[in-house]
Amino acid sequence: MMIARSRQELSRATANWRHAGERIGVVPTMGALHDGHLSLVDAARQVAERCIATIFVNPKQFNNSDDLARYPRTEADDIAKLATRNVDIVYIPDPAEIYPDGFATTVSVTGVSEGLCGASRPGHFDGVATVVAKLLLQTRADFAFFGEKDFQQLQVIRRLARDLDLPVKILGCPIVRGPDGLALSSRNTRLSVGALHKAAVLYRALREAAARIAAGESADIPLRTAAAVILASGFSAIDYIELCAEDDLMPLAAATRPARILCAAWLDRVRLIDNVALDDLLPAEPITAHLKERLANA
Ligand code: PAF
Repeated sequence: MMIARSRQELSRATANWRHAGERIGVVPTMGALHDGHLSLVDAARQVAERCIATIFVNPKQFNNSDDLARYPRTEADDIAKLATRNVDIVYIPDPAEIYPDGFATTVSVTGVSEGLCGASRPGHFDGVATVVAKLLLQTRADFAFFGEKDFQQLQVIRRLARDLDLPVKILGCPIVRGPDGLALSSRNTRLSVGALHKAAVLYRALREAAARIAAGESADIPLRTAAAVILASGFSAIDYIELCAEDDLMPLAAATRPARILCAAWLDRVRLIDNVALDDLLPAEPITAHLKERLANA
């Protein structure tokens, strides 16, 4: 596995691959890797002949300097994890490779980036879109893999790639959860043991609300109940909890189109996000047959 810190090293290797007709899958990350990231690497390995993982803690997507300072940096560990997964190159660009002196461009995706995390973290998705555009162009990847945990981010990146005709397929991969249902996140390492225990309530509350809405209830009361459960379990605040359309993330009052509940909430000064697709509930639930019938008759 090669470590590349400059575009020159990166493009030397990728030029050879391209010449040999090998396709490239990229997994952009900010490091602090966990099994969720490794599942993206595994997906890339299945789809493309070559796999690049990138590690870059992107200052432009943090709208809070404290959050940036506290973001975990575990480079040696990350490299060791990637080595176990047959990654070809870990691209860890020097900051000047991404933001050289005089850098003056911002990529801004309107619409899908504006509500939810876009409303509570102004500028965040401009930072994400800008760095992802650069990473996709620098790696010249054929496929790029992103987790559905950051579902709004995934939709912003899909829009970005479509609008700019980037020659890359954006692939979303399922959320990886711990045994108690908590979505894996680099931020979980900042939670105390007690808070980790409480954090699992987030997923349970969202699932409960999703099941009720999938069964035909309007969104309002199930979402309010979920919010109350989350706050009662020790979360200090909820930035948003909303039912949104899968494709354009427009808020919905009921599941009239394929939909997802998305939520961001604060626990122990850590902002956690999670989401549940109403469709995800159908295959695994004991109430599946009942829900399917209700949906078919809706
Ligand atoms: O999801 C992340 O880790 C980051 O937002 C990404 C996509 C690597 C861009 O910095």
